[in-house]
Amino acid sequence: MSSVAMQSETIAAGSNTAELDTTRPFFSVRDMHAYYGESYIVQGVSLDIRKGEILALLGRNGAGKTSTLRTIARTDNPQMRQGEIWLDGMPIHEMSSYQAARAGIQLVPEDRRIIQGLTVEENISLAKVAPGNGWSLEQIYESFPRLAERRTQEGVTLSGGEQQMLAIARALARDLKLLLLDEPYEGLAPVIVHEIERILHSIKPLGITTIIVEQNAVAALKLADRAVILDTGEVAFAGTAKEVLDNADLRHEYLAI
Ligand SMILES: Nc1ncnc2c1ncn2[C@@H]1O[C@H](COP(=O)(O)OP(=O)(O)O)[C@@H](O)[C@H]1O
Ligand SMILES: [Mg+2]
Repeated sequence: MSSVAMQSETIAAGSNTAELDTTRPFFSVRDMHAYYGESYIVQGVSLDIRKGEILALLGRNGAGKTSTLRTIARTDNPQMRQGEIWLDGMPIHEMSSYQAARAGIQLVPEDRRIIQGLTVEENISLAKVAPGNGWSLEQIYESFPRLAERRTQEGVTLSGGEQQMLAIARALARDLKLLLLDEPYEGLAPVIVHEIERILHSIKPLGITTIIVEQNAVAALKLADRAVILDTGEVAFAGTAKEVLDNADLRHEYLAI
């Protein structure tokens, strides 16, 4: 493939501002296999995302979406036994979860993991302790005015939507390159979903790349550039989000919408 030639063409065509390279995958998973003990769950998943894109990772309950995100974040459970994960030229598959986080991969799990006994601001400040160039408190409060209003409130007392915002804010406080969101809209009112969509959209031009797992497939597809549908741990479809929205058969078969 002449990806190097295409890449240099992009650089030559661009200015010296933060031009996004749209030719080469920024994040790439190659034939990834992972197990919980002897249970074989992630069965050869591959996917590519360009810098600043949003990928919707969809599929029925139990399809392996959460397990795929955990494997990418290099958690021990499930354990990856085969495959490669590349982020911006870095071999993530050779890293521990701690190293992957330092390399810029931040997983926001379904339960959000807000730390009990700490205020909103303390939750963010604790995330900032990690090395690297994350967002400042000022930048975070500018993008999340609700968090600014509640900065001295205990994090776990926030509404579900505000906790989701806090979880995303914590990821932004670290050196974030790839954001992994597991069901971020679950249980949230439409108005809060829109606010989170606005934030996810606004970080795209900064080059932050996102994988969003959502049961609300329509909302995720409207936000996303690309879509991957999983079925029993394998990729059943990979293409653009629009292709899924336009394909009723695909939606019926795998997403029940
Ligand atoms: N900790 C675990 N130990 C063993 N099996 C698990 C564990 N977590 C999930 N599984 C199994 O892995 C499969 C995929 O689950 P999961 O990745 O959570 O799917 P999804 O997020 O798409 O609903 C399911 O069959 C589930 O029962
Ligand atoms: Mg899940």
